[in-house]
Amino acid sequence: MSAAERIEELTNLLNYYNNKYYQEAVSEISDQEFDFLLKELETLENQHPELKLPDSPSHRVGGGITKNFETVTHKYPMLSLSNTYSEDELREWDERVKKGLNGATYEYICEIKFDGISLSLTYENGILVRGVTRGDGTQGDDITTNIKTLRSLPLKINAKKTTNPQIGLFGNDDIGLDFEIRGEGFMPTEVFERINAEREDIGEDRLANPRNAAAGTFKMQDSGVVASRNLDCFIYQYMSENDNFKTHEESLIALKKAGFNVSDSYRKVNDIESVIAYINEWSEKRHSLRCATDGIVIKINNYAQREDLGFTAKSPRWAIAYKYKAESKSTTLLDVTFQVGRTGAVTPVAELKPVELSMTTVRRATLHNADEIQRLGLAIGDEVLVEKAGEIIPKVTGVDTSKLRNEETRADNKVQFPENCPACGSKLYRNEGEAAYYCPNEMGCPPQIKGRIEHFIQRKAMNIDSLGEGKIEILMEQGIIQDVSDLYTLTYDKLIGIEKTHVDETTGKERKVSFKDKTVQNILDGIENSKNQPYSKVLFALGIRFVGETTAQKLAAYFKTQEALEAASFEELKTVPDVGEKVAQSLLQFLKEEKNLRIIQNLKTGGLKFEADNIVTEHESNALEGKTFLYTGTFASFSREELEQKIESNGGKLVSGVSKKLDFLIVGDGAGPSKLKKAEDLGVKMISEDEFKALL
Ligand code: IVH
Repeated sequence: MSAAERIEELTNLLNYYNNKYYQEAVSEISDQEFDFLLKELETLENQHPELKLPDSPSHRVGGGITKNFETVTHKYPMLSLSNTYSEDELREWDERVKKGLNGATYEYICEIKFDGISLSLTYENGILVRGVTRGDGTQGDDITTNIKTLRSLPLKINAKKTTNPQIGLFGNDDIGLDFEIRGEGFMPTEVFERINAEREDIGEDRLANPRNAAAGTFKMQDSGVVASRNLDCFIYQYMSENDNFKTHEESLIALKKAGFNVSDSYRKVNDIESVIAYINEWSEKRHSLRCATDGIVIKINNYAQREDLGFTAKSPRWAIAYKYKAESKSTTLLDVTFQVGRTGAVTPVAELKPVELSMTTVRRATLHNADEIQRLGLAIGDEVLVEKAGEIIPKVTGVDTSKLRNEETRADNKVQFPENCPACGSKLYRNEGEAAYYCPNEMGCPPQIKGRIEHFIQRKAMNIDSLGEGKIEILMEQGIIQDVSDLYTLTYDKLIGIEKTHVDETTGKERKVSFKDKTVQNILDGIENSKNQPYSKVLFALGIRFVGETTAQKLAAYFKTQEALEAASFEELKTVPDVGEKVAQSLLQFLKEEKNLRIIQNLKTGGLKFEADNIVTEHESNALEGKTFLYTGTFASFSREELEQKIESNGGKLVSGVSKKLDFLIVGDGAGPSKLKKAEDLGVKMISEDEFKALL
């Protein structure tokens, strides 16, 4: 079998398994077998880039970098919906519909209004060719590479039969091969929570809600990162030149059959009271969905009737959105506690009398910072309003003024932001332009030290899972560890026999922790194994503010050694992909502090890797040694990843933007005009794909 045939066969086979899994929840092969076939395909595609098919499942893992998204004009403008919060207004709308249809009977389709970002997806000849954001409704951004990472979205419909007899035709003739669909792209709740935990860990602010998180992720330059965030989308609209369907319902059924992710939550009803029943039914239930929701969309089912009703300037008359009011409840503010994080930031937390809100029991709510406390004017004992809207974390929106108490009692109980650290007593400070107060006692404040050690040992960093929160606390209390480098001086004799009753922070339950032979051995083994973690993980483990996992990987790949990183200037740091001013500043700050350099030195002595392993890319030549490169557009003989690999394996360095320091801008098809202009202004040498090949 030729490479082309095998590539086609593997592509179809993997797409078939993928469809089975995402559309029917059926796994016909194990994850391992799937990965094995995918590896084979990727290897073949690397050897024959020209044979990679547009629906190759390898698009799912991302990897391509798009620096500037092209602006695309929508074929059919993306309108918005008129909306209402009131049942009576819905009834009035229904009256207008009835009148507009001259008394004919009609049906509504009720759908959940998903709260993400609207996407327009174009299929040509059965292949997903373009994914575009709504933008201003007329023009949006072409984010196709990112869209292709959505695993529930077929990259191709009507896949051909493969030589595998098990695989029949999938896809569906009803929807044709050339059409546009619209849907809502979203970040599943569990992913949102995971990302926020990661952001808190590196000292970044939390993302406000899943909608913003989805919007930000869909527009990220690195599709590899997008792929890791498991975005998804629900499809709710079909459009094409042919009149394939008479009703919206028919189109939803056909889309579903063809493998698209159409939510099963829609319902066909005959009158507005049934619409209202649907609204009430979903008002609570919607919180259990994987996607944030903000209302219900009601649409006329029949396309001909839609045409009769037509549009206003901004929105169709045949549809309306009913929006749920953010659920708000009143409860007692029992106390406000102040928590000190790893970075020293002090966060106020409202301790509340438990209250049921959007299907969860709320006991605590963040108050963000000192300004927020001031704004709310809180006093302990107040009845406060707690709300859970698009946000997943509940928030206190104000004092329930209908239940205000005696002003004198309130004055005595006003919540004050402390001047000193609640954990160590140091005087707190606030940086110009920042909302948070910080404790300056980095080396002596227990929650900061503990936070740094917890960050260091986590799986994504040094992966020492034999040490947990409780054990760290004990080792700190006993004065055995003061910073992360002390872990590498631990011995059997220092640990054996230590014992303590520890109160678990989340459950409040007492647990006895004792360091017996097996425990000690596990801890020491875990620490020993951590010495094999690559430099990128060590760099992440150091806990430099704003340096997350991906940034650490990029820094390690670029500088290769800690010495080179420490020697880098602000300008050089900024040339690393993923590193902007904020990260560069934070790195410089961290690396200039004596105490951090001392810890790094101790970790080196302890045996940790401060050099990248040389297996990242196979070394081909030194042809590009010492030269920096950037590319724009697409290329005939390389995918973006391949081009990056070529540059690196021949000794060149890839940088993130056009600057005077850039040696070569490689210009491909559809190159970004702003980049070309900047390169021209700065006198940067621009070369074609062929000239690049000649350099090699
Ligand atoms: S239909 C003419 N259906 O809500 C507009 N929209 O304000 C037709 N949305 O931008 C849109 N879920 O992003 C429709 N089931 C659903 C939806 C939905 C969420 C979003 C969409 C649109 C906005 C309308």
